[in-house]
Amino acid sequence: MRIIHAKNYDDMSRKAANIISAQVILKPDSVLGLATGTTPIGAYQQLIAWHQKGDVSFAEVSTYNLDEYRGLKHDEPQSYHYFMNEQFFSSIDIKPAHTHVPDGSNPDAEAACAEYDRLVEAAGYPDLQLLGIGNNGHIGFNEPDSVFSKGTHCVDLTESTIEANSRLFNSPDEVPRQAYTMGVQTIMQARSILVIASGSNKAQAVFDMCKGPVTPACPASILQLHPHAIVVADEDALSLF
Ligand code: GLP
Repeated sequence: MRIIHAKNYDDMSRKAANIISAQVILKPDSVLGLATGTTPIGAYQQLIAWHQKGDVSFAEVSTYNLDEYRGLKHDEPQSYHYFMNEQFFSSIDIKPAHTHVPDGSNPDAEAACAEYDRLVEAAGYPDLQLLGIGNNGHIGFNEPDSVFSKGTHCVDLTESTIEANSRLFNSPDEVPRQAYTMGVQTIMQARSILVIASGSNKAQAVFDMCKGPVTPACPASILQLHPHAIVVADEDALSLF
């Protein structure tokens, strides 16, 4: 794993955006795996700014997001469909039909997940997968477990994730208890992986991801086995190194 030190959140965001834009400039029809959460917002804003200056185009890019809450419709503000449109897609030149997020509005978990796996496989898996990391080491919504997950599947969210993500809802009671997420095996199919992390609340998870044993108790630790995994983290997130 290659670890790149950033000074702070803004520096992390610019470095991540540089890596993503280099990928798209070198291969305009890149398949990007994208992430939600607070962490990538700065990188998306930087990419939007460069796009508006004419430095990078997403016209031929296609994207596959990691995950979505089960039970939220695409136009509900807390859904990851909505988030991606608001934070990124509506401000760049990507074709809406080229953007993909698991269909949380489909109550048939098996069908929704199988369809998403089919789409990601047909696209040939991401050239570059962007990842945030949960406080407990989760990637996508792959929570700590006794085994690594494989394809897209429905998960029960842990109390710690519900609590952490409740800041984006009116109350913890409104946070959906389940989500559809790409599996760890699917995430590992990406040709390269870029993990971003900022803040002291991520320090333990970042340390365990990079230096701890490879174990499903910290799902992100499997990235140690990926041949092209880069971590861009700020000083606070790297404070345990
Ligand atoms: C959610 C998402 C993850 C994200 C994590 C961390 O659980 N499913 O993809 O990495 O939150 O989010 P944040 O960046 O807001 O800390």
